[in-house]
Amino acid sequence: MIELDRLSKTYDDALAVDRLSFTVQTGDIFGFIGPNGAGKTTTIKILATLLDPTAGAARIDGMSVVDEPEAVRRIVGFMPDYYGVYDGISVWEFLDFFAATYGLRGAQRRKVVEDVMALTDLAPLRDKLMVSLSKGMKQRACLAKILLHDPKVLILDEPAAGLDPRARIEFRMLLKELRSMGKTVFLSSHILTELADVCNRVAILERGRLVAAGTVDEIVAGIAPVRAWRFTLAAEAPRAAELCSKFAKVRAATVEGNAVRVEVEEGCEIPALVKVLALADLPIVGLAEEKIGLEDVFMRTTKGEVA
Ligand SMILES: Nc1ncnc2c1ncn2[C@@H]1O[C@H](COP(=O)(O)OP(=O)(O)O)[C@@H](O)[C@H]1O
Ligand SMILES: [Mg+2]
Repeated sequence: MIELDRLSKTYDDALAVDRLSFTVQTGDIFGFIGPNGAGKTTTIKILATLLDPTAGAARIDGMSVVDEPEAVRRIVGFMPDYYGVYDGISVWEFLDFFAATYGLRGAQRRKVVEDVMALTDLAPLRDKLMVSLSKGMKQRACLAKILLHDPKVLILDEPAAGLDPRARIEFRMLLKELRSMGKTVFLSSHILTELADVCNRVAILERGRLVAAGTVDEIVAGIAPVRAWRFTLAAEAPRAAELCSKFAKVRAATVEGNAVRVEVEEGCEIPALVKVLALADLPIVGLAEEKIGLEDVFMRTTKGEVA
């Protein structure tokens, strides 16, 4: 549904997006992840037809974002990372106004506005002034606005940034609902864990370049034949870390408070390591395997450790 082909963007002399290629399938909730300055907003603005690429191409539903911007806009709902506040108008007036600009009239317009308010749980807030809404509610109103023309594709730039936990949960539920309606959602974040459980696929971007793409499981499996164990000690964690780091197939041992986090390769003999520590009079009071999650993957990939 969305295809990027060696997409590049240069600002003056600085390369912000560097030959980016990946595909978003119909029905994906696709997470576009990278630290601040990675080039997410630049890419998104190109997809939303607001910025021309310097080189390469991008297509949405087969249409070029450069050559057919109007046709692309008809099937795309775009929510920028910052949106203005509309003083003095209510939620309903805000939505009705934009529905009118999409050419909707009369009973049809009323129905579309009601449907969209129902989907985004805004009906109880219909008469509230936009300016009085919380960040989460305002965001829902902006999402409602971009759903008015029933787009196939939603492009959301950092939609979860600044939301409180409750608003975040509501936002996730809304995403799942949009997915069940068959929409394709492309959304960015600089915080991986914000998206990990709602996205079926992700792309990780660093300094304008793609460092990994695929399903969350694929990305974790691809870079992490490594496991991590946490040894909690009654005392002397630094000495334990020192011993662990010398043990076979241990990649790294770091002190974290009274614990040692040990990253090991496949085949590392954990029971033997426990014995080594016990023989060195280091009393282990806790031992647990840590699940290597996406956050670890993200930290490792964006440190450039994974090509
Ligand atoms: N309008 C602009 N003019 C010049 N440089 C820009 C402009 N917009 C973004 N950049 C630069 O491009 C890079 C990518 O920025 P951006 O796409 O906003 O990243 P992200 O959204 O991932 O934080 C950054 O180095 C940023 O400073
Ligand atoms: Mg951005």
